[in-house]
Amino acid sequence: MDYLFKEMEEFAELNHVPIIKEAERKIFKDIIAKYKPKRILEIGTAIGYSALLMANCGEGIKIKTLELSTERAEIAQSFIDKSPYKDDIEIVIGDAGENLLSLDKEEIFDYCEPHTCDFNHELGEQNSQRI
Ligand SMILES: C[S@@+](CC[C@H](N)C(=O)[O-])C[C@H]1O[C@@H](n2cnc3c(N)ncnc32)[C@H](O)[C@@H]1O
Repeated sequence: MDYLFKEMEEFAELNHVPIIKEAERKIFKDIIAKYKPKRILEIGTAIGYSALLMANCGEGIKIKTLELSTERAEIAQSFIDKSPYKDDIEIVIGDAGENLLSLDKEEIFDYCEPHTCDFNHELGEQNSQRI
C-alpha cells in the first residue's frame, strides 16, 4: 500500500485535491486502531485517500464514502481498484446532505468521519455516531 499512498499523495498535490494532512494521519490511524470500527461512514471521499487509510487499519472494515464530485469519485474508484480493498469501499456519488437522508435506515455505522460541512442533523437521523 505504501506505493499507492505515495502515488495518491503526489496526485493530490499536483491537482490541488485536499486530502488528510500528513500531520493528522497518525492520529487518524490511531483512532481507527483503538476503536476498531467495522462499519464506517465517511463524508467527503475526494480521491479515496482517507478511505484507504481506514481500510488499511484492520481486517474486515467496510466503508461507505459519500462524494459530491463525479470526477473525484471516479478517480477515487480507480485508486481503490488498485488496492486490496476494492470490495470493502463503496462510493456513493451525490450530495451527502441528500444521500444521508436516503441511506437504508437499517444500516448502522459505528464510526463516521465527516470531512466536510456540518451534517450532524442528518447523521443523527441515521443513527450514526462519531467517536
Ligand atoms: C477535504 S476533502 C476530503 C478528503 C478525504 N476525506 C481525504 O482525506 O482523503 C472534502 C471532499 O468533500 C466533498 N464534498 C463537499 N461537499 C460535499 C457534499 N455536500 N456531499 C458530498 N461530498 C462533498 C468535496 O468534493 C471534497 O472532495
